[in-house]
Amino acid sequence: MQRSGQRSGRSKGSLKILLAKEMGLCFGVKRALALVEKAATEHGHLHTLGAVVHNRQVMASLESRGVASVTSLSEVAEGAVAVPSHGAPPAVFAEAESRGLTLLDATCPMVKAAQQRARQWAEKGFLVVIFGDPDHTEVKGIAAWARDRAIIVSSEDDLAGLPSAAKIALLSQTTQSLASFRHLASCLIQQRLGASSQLLVHNTICNATADRQAAALDLARQVDVMIVVGSRDSANTGRLTALCTVHTPTHQVESADDLEPAWFAGVGLVGVTAGASTPDWIVQPVVERIRHFDH
Ligand code: F3S
Repeated sequence: MQRSGQRSGRSKGSLKILLAKEMGLCFGVKRALALVEKAATEHGHLHTLGAVVHNRQVMASLESRGVASVTSLSEVAEGAVAVPSHGAPPAVFAEAESRGLTLLDATCPMVKAAQQRARQWAEKGFLVVIFGDPDHTEVKGIAAWARDRAIIVSSEDDLAGLPSAAKIALLSQTTQSLASFRHLASCLIQQRLGASSQLLVHNTICNATADRQAAALDLARQVDVMIVVGSRDSANTGRLTALCTVHTPTHQVESADDLEPAWFAGVGLVGVTAGASTPDWIVQPVVERIRHFDH
């Protein structure tokens, strides 16, 4: 698939499609999918602890190959269980070991690094502040690695509720926007510098996220309408949609069937991007369908 930000080919009319320079599956999701597919082939059957990636079509495809998603280890009597790319709390690893379950750790290395950072800071007596969505599995997992020394904040307003602490360390959910994290970090420093003797800020937003967001923003500034491809339960896809919406009308779709002709009426330039959990085989039909709106 063309990813140069150059015009995608067309044969008639005035509609042009531009693809983001960076889009679609990130290395962490590719790695997790490869591990899960290999294990499913070897074992004939495999459980995953929640969705291995936040993409319904990908999960449906895996199910057809013997991969079943469970919400808790208690649902698994025996065999192999995969930890998804967004990670799991330490209690999951301990339970699997005590019950003799084979745990396949497909945690993205970037998420793993954030977990380890949180654990080390907590052990050194820091209050660990995690910028992210408190309901997201990755964020809950990172907090669990910091034991009882973590607080999750999702906005500047949440900083007012932080307890006083001599040492505070801030990190981010890997898929947050850098601009939002930068803003939160500067608010924290303004509010707490002086009251706390040590303030640490570590940027744990992954490069794949930052690159996809920058490319999507670059494209959104050029086009008349943006189409973002990815599941509604994908945090990084939702972030791309939110960022692009600031600059141009933006629609998030899970598949080509979600596209509406009215979005392209009178439109000259269409931009397309996709979340880090969206493979090419889902994006390509969307691009093809948009071409059919060219008239
Ligand atoms: Fe990992 Fe970043 Fe992808 S954290 S799973 S490389 S979006």
